Amino acid sequence: MAIRPILIFGDLRLEATNEAVEHFGSELHRLVDDLFETGWRAPGLGLAAPQVGVNIRLATIDLSVGTDPDARIVLANPEIVDRRGKIRIEEGCLSFPGLFTNIERPTEVRVRAQDEHGVLREMEADGLLAQAVCHELDHLDGVLLVHHLRGLKRRLFMRKVEKMRKLGVWRETA
Ligand code: NI
Repeated sequence: MAIRPILIFGDLRLEATNEAVEHFGSELHRLVDDLFETGWRAPGLGLAAPQVGVNIRLATIDLSVGTDPDARIVLANPEIVDRRGKIRIEEGCLSFPGLFTNIERPTEVRVRAQDEHGVLREMEADGLLAQAVCHELDHLDGVLLVHHLRGLKRRLFMRKVEKMRKLGVWRETA
């Protein structure tokens, strides 16, 4: 396992097209391990492959942040097949370190995805897990926190982004 640098907002790879995962071999398994390891270290609840500069439809989630092996979720080529409820909730992202904003999310989702071996699985998620699933799937479509904001809220968020940049606190975590 290895820690990979997490790309910060502004890096075009975060908004690039992500290709479907087609090969479920040792290279993918290494990447999955690295995503978990990098997420635990950050620390964060999930990480998408484009956040480490690999533009494929792969993300990991671990709400236990490394404390429970059973909590590890691998989402390859994921799709949300059902969503219910709505909540406005605070959200952060490792690609916007230190920033949080309220956005709208479903309260429950049903997600279909392949695991690291290519096996298709379906999962029901609610609460924080539903939020994490939606957040990571957004990454696979190049959708970032800021894209959920409009008008004044977006301008205020971007002002904070510029402030973080100016302060020099935003660097890739290596
Ligand atoms: Ni994120």
